[in-house]
Amino acid sequence: MEINQLNRIKKWFADYTQSFLTGETGKDSPLVLKIQHTTRVCENIRHLGMSIPLSNDRMAIAETIGLLHDVGRFMQYKQYETFNDRKSANHAVLGIRVINEKALLDNLPVEEKALVIDAIRYHNAPALPRKASPESMVFMRLIRDADKLDIWKVFADYFRSGEVPEAAVVQHLSDSPECNHTIIDAIMENRIAGFQDMKSINDFKLLQLSWVFDLNFPESLSLANRRGDVATIARSMPDEPKVNQAVAGVMERLDSSGHVE
Ligand SMILES: [Fe+2]
Repeated sequence: MEINQLNRIKKWFADYTQSFLTGETGKDSPLVLKIQHTTRVCENIRHLGMSIPLSNDRMAIAETIGLLHDVGRFMQYKQYETFNDRKSANHAVLGIRVINEKALLDNLPVEEKALVIDAIRYHNAPALPRKASPESMVFMRLIRDADKLDIWKVFADYFRSGEVPEAAVVQHLSDSPECNHTIIDAIMENRIAGFQDMKSINDFKLLQLSWVFDLNFPESLSLANRRGDVATIARSMPDEPKVNQAVAGVMERLDSSGHVE
């Protein structure tokens, strides 16, 4: 993929996302957060791409995926006023619809367009598809890790500052103290938990902690460890024996980042 193609898509993304802003801070802030999230996911995906490493033309594809992975969030928020997919629609599917309606990728080679679309489709799926080309798998893995790294940062920043998280960011979940045991059990078994079990902000945080078991590149785990965002989220959890045990498993996984093959 040529750099001028990427620049064209960057320009489109800036114009498209600006068109959703109203000028009212309260209304715009969830969308502004998504624009900022996108910028950082692009930085993360470039960083991870360099660790593999990717060639320049593959890097442009990776960056396109970073730029467009959440493009469906804007339509989602406009239509449903939530980022909760279970209460609205799958934002990856919405994003692909926008891309197709705008014919945004139609002048890319067919295989490159397919790589971008597939990575967007699976960026928020519970797991990677069983069948995909090795090349497609690389991009799917990259966006999943780059996205998780920034979601951790967004949450950790709230806990560091003591600010109340934006309702849309915590998907309008309740701040009740309970923690769902299905999610705790998943962590104890070193596996990623499911969005369907998430009822409270604590559950969302536990779910995010379970993501350390779903990282695809050594550099992702290492970055998560160095940045300290997962540790900050872990420290914000209630002090309960079961939760503490689960958190210990998460921290052990993070600490292993120096030794991952
Ligand atoms: Fe997303």
